[in-house]
Amino acid sequence: MPYNSLLPNDLDSYWLPFTDNRWFKKNPRMLIEAKGMYYKNINHDLILDGVAGLWAVNAGHCRKKIVSAVQKQVAQMDYALAFQMSHPKAFELANKLTALMPGDLNHVFYTNSGSESVDTALKIALAFHQSKGNNNRNIFIGRERGYHGSGFGGTSVGGITNNRKQFSSLLKNITHLPHTHLPEKNSFSKGQPKFGSEKAEELDHLVELHGASNIAAVIVEPVAGSTGVLVPPIGYLEKLRKICDKNNILLIFDEVITGFGRLGYSFASERFQVIPDMITMAKGLTNATVPMGAVGVKSDIYKTIYDNNPENIELFHGYTYSGHPLACAAAIATLEVYEEESLFEKAKSMEIFFQEAAHSLAHLDVVIDIRNIGMVAGIELRERDYNSMTMARDVFEECFKNGLLVRYTGNTIAISPPLIATELEIEKVFSILTKSIKNICK
Ligand SMILES: Cc1ncc(COP(=O)(O)O)c(C=O)c1O
Repeated sequence: MPYNSLLPNDLDSYWLPFTDNRWFKKNPRMLIEAKGMYYKNINHDLILDGVAGLWAVNAGHCRKKIVSAVQKQVAQMDYALAFQMSHPKAFELANKLTALMPGDLNHVFYTNSGSESVDTALKIALAFHQSKGNNNRNIFIGRERGYHGSGFGGTSVGGITNNRKQFSSLLKNITHLPHTHLPEKNSFSKGQPKFGSEKAEELDHLVELHGASNIAAVIVEPVAGSTGVLVPPIGYLEKLRKICDKNNILLIFDEVITGFGRLGYSFASERFQVIPDMITMAKGLTNATVPMGAVGVKSDIYKTIYDNNPENIELFHGYTYSGHPLACAAAIATLEVYEEESLFEKAKSMEIFFQEAAHSLAHLDVVIDIRNIGMVAGIELRERDYNSMTMARDVFEECFKNGLLVRYTGNTIAISPPLIATELEIEKVFSILTKSIKNICK
């Protein structure tokens, strides 16, 4: 059957998320197959995946082991109730995850997405403080340019103006740290930038202003992805940890992007040697095969909430699909693939090659900054005089035409390929990107 007969004849009914629907529907980009490093579009052209789907398909697409695990599971047991019941794979996965997590993050709460993981972590923070009798600790501190998903909690602690401005009533009791992006000092940094750790000291000011006894938690992405790959300055995360410790404020790392090998380690917290009190995760957890998220929780938090409710449900929170059997099967198989193929170590050993390939674009006139760490890079383009935010979007479209999938956010092109990428594939990513930038930014 020719694929065109599969084209929907009406594109109007589906409202795409985070998309200019008019723009998309004028020239829809449809994907129909995926394998390893490649997608196929509706014309059967191969599209090299430069962003691991949405920073998620870390082991590459349609991995046999993961696909078979899901197929086997769906045939054996499609669903098991999540409340007051469970199934063995949910525990097996939790044990595997606690072995991967740093420090005494020894407990796992399952969700279905990064957004749900963030909202869950925020609620756990409140429940923890309440269990200790600290009901006033209810202020959350996010960071400018942070992205924490699209739930009410995540949008509120998030610091992306466009994501907030349509919604007039977000959570109250939220404040934000300044972002750490200092292009005038740090542009074209390789790895962690030198300048800007003092931005963490703003937390001291916020504590002074609001009172430590009113603050529940600080939430940051160790490396901010969605606002254009902002790598933490050297010493920055360490300072945040210190100030949180001094004031008994919980520190949450949102590792939805940075988890599962993106930075060459299980989690960014391991790479930066800074252990948070909770880690939110999703995406690479199941290689994006089945939606799933999770929150890693420190023993002290779990135990405090648990002990405070000896005769009742200790946490009134959860989802119908928490620990869904298909998601658990996918996640267990995914973690096995990561381990069998040493994909985190592979990412680590590829980092310098990837970095140099990314920075090879520095000679392009229109490129005003390149930032990278692990297997993620942001290439920022100069704004146009007209229609300022369309340059990166045009480059994204041109890349797709030329057989490469990239991500754009504002004026930044983000690259984060599956961790199975070879040197040749990395070179191909950056050479198609270079050609596409040249075509668009003549
Ligand atoms: C750091 C971070 N947190 C949360 C989310 C939200 O995840 P989801 O889209 O699965 O809800 C994302 C998504 O990109 C993210 O990058």
